[in-house]
Amino acid sequence: MAKREKFTVALAADHAGFPLKEALLEHLMKRGIDCIDCGTNSTESCDYPQYAVSGCCKVLDGEADLTTLCCGTGIGMSMAANKLKGIRAACCSDVFSAKYTRLHNNANVLCLGSRVVGAGLACELADVFVDTGFEGGKHQRRIDMIADLEK
Ligand code: RB5
Repeated sequence: MAKREKFTVALAADHAGFPLKEALLEHLMKRGIDCIDCGTNSTESCDYPQYAVSGCCKVLDGEADLTTLCCGTGIGMSMAANKLKGIRAACCSDVFSAKYTRLHNNANVLCLGSRVVGAGLACELADVFVDTGFEGGKHQRRIDMIADLEK
């Protein structure tokens, strides 16, 4: 695969998270961030695990740096995403958690609940998630221990 020039975020949602995904897409694209929309593209009922996989595959395949998943609570998406090897998904509804899950857990997927956070806070959470890097050091050892659990 050709090396990407720009930082890229993949987004996916189920029907409940769809409106929030749209708001996040608009926000991130306005910031000049490349986005990959992995659906869903309507409020018609669908199953969130399918979209968790579509969104996470973009990170696992190297097409995106990070993924954002939206459902009603963010919880179902995070449960499904964390079943995938190499995915570290964090369901966040506060800025502190969104920042520290990047700094300490090197989270690569942010899960948001459209019935939990409004679009304004969701965009702020996505900004913090995108703008914060992994601290490394002793935290890498702990990430490696998580990876060992996948074996
Ligand atoms: C859909 O109604 C809802 O269950 C789903 O979006 C999500 O919140 C599951 O965790």
